[in-house]
Amino acid sequence: MTVTTVSIQAPDTQRIRGLEMPWNRVLQASGDAAGAAHALGPWHPQEFTAECVEVIPDLGDIMTFVFRRTDGAPLAFRPGQYLNFAFPVNGEDEDPLDRSYSISSAPTEPWTFSISVKRDHMGQVSPWVHENVRPGTVLDVLGPVGAFHLPDVERRARFLFLAAGAGITPIMSMLRTIHSLPGQADVVVLYHGAQAGQFAFAKELEYLASVDERIQVFWSLGDRNAPEKWEWMLGRLTSQMIEQVAPDANGRQVYACGPEGYLNNAAELLKQIGVDETSIHMEFFSGDRKTLLEYQQEVAIAEELAGELADDIADSAEDFYESQPVALELYEPAFDKDGPLEAAGLPLEVAEGGAFPDETTGGDSVADGSAAKAEPAGPADDSAFKTVGEGTLTLSFLKTGLKVKINPDQKILPIAKSAGVRIATNCQEGMCGSCKVVKVSGEIEMNHQGGIRAREVAAGKFLACCSTAKTDLVIDA
Ligand code: FES
Repeated sequence: MTVTTVSIQAPDTQRIRGLEMPWNRVLQASGDAAGAAHALGPWHPQEFTAECVEVIPDLGDIMTFVFRRTDGAPLAFRPGQYLNFAFPVNGEDEDPLDRSYSISSAPTEPWTFSISVKRDHMGQVSPWVHENVRPGTVLDVLGPVGAFHLPDVERRARFLFLAAGAGITPIMSMLRTIHSLPGQADVVVLYHGAQAGQFAFAKELEYLASVDERIQVFWSLGDRNAPEKWEWMLGRLTSQMIEQVAPDANGRQVYACGPEGYLNNAAELLKQIGVDETSIHMEFFSGDRKTLLEYQQEVAIAEELAGELADDIADSAEDFYESQPVALELYEPAFDKDGPLEAAGLPLEVAEGGAFPDETTGGDSVADGSAAKAEPAGPADDSAFKTVGEGTLTLSFLKTGLKVKINPDQKILPIAKSAGVRIATNCQEGMCGSCKVVKVSGEIEMNHQGGIRAREVAAGKFLACCSTAKTDLVIDA
């Protein structure tokens, strides 16, 4: 009898140039990759329901929740993207609260997916999630969304991942993806934490670094609580630290996720080191969920608009004072003693049947970035409201009792902010759903990126950050 020996060789990761996501070929085969992604659908935000199948406690007050789609479909996403969840925090009969969470699992295992939620003890939603989401819990989900993700193909796959605290979550998705794929890659992770022994995913990161020679992980502790045996780096991120772990940082694609202060510092240091802006990808954790550059640009634009509007408001206020000097005592500040309208000197008339916002409930942001539930504000009679600003259209804030003249190209959110009307915000790019408000009358044009559900639009809601007015508008804010 002849015995034939068949040798099965493991894929030689070194022979495959760079890193390529499994779906890239499909997209390329369709010609226009962007068009194909759109046509294929899964990479586009979708509404679906997902059932929790496992809950995994981790260090650093983080819990990982594993889900599967109830329609049995896999979830297609890019590593680093996030999902918007609707949590019935106030019961099934009340409007759910929306929150965005990065996907921490890899899209190469798409039949289940996970989010990793850090408990914010002052927050309204994350404690509820920790205490109530259990295997069997079904939630409404919208996504995937987000531009902070690995490219579909990267021939020079040299990455520097910077993460602070729970900013490690999208980075975990990227690392797990890279580890699951063959191909050349060179990945350096620098992970900052506040407390030794509290680094989420520590064991898995150590494992990945020990079995995958493409991945190196470095740790750094904040100044506090460094134990005697701590052998890694200490202190906040510095350029020396970056150069120590990645002397070739300016030849790498840098992905950074963490709190705003950490990212601002990282952006400055990377610039000093000579990393090209186009190689820097950043995402705020627990705050503005967007790239740092986009954030800075939009803040600048919003500030400019705010300045213009404040000038208009001040002018209107002056005219008003001059025309009605004896009636000053009838008028009150628009919002509160720190509000921008008072700073701008605007006297506001208390509208008959209207009300000034209640500081405890008036659409304020809660600690972890949510909007308090908007209650209907009564009949849409804005005839007695004071009008400020200049423009061809009128935007009436029903709860606040204010009318602002605006132009059709102005986004509603910055106008509201300038006028002292509080609308919760987060991403400011139509993805997270935080700035949802109710339209009482009028027409808007909305260019969102998946932050609102079809049934919410049908119910008259819209996202203030990415909407402009097409006609005079009355909103419940
Ligand atoms: S602030 Fe995120 S959708 Fe408007």
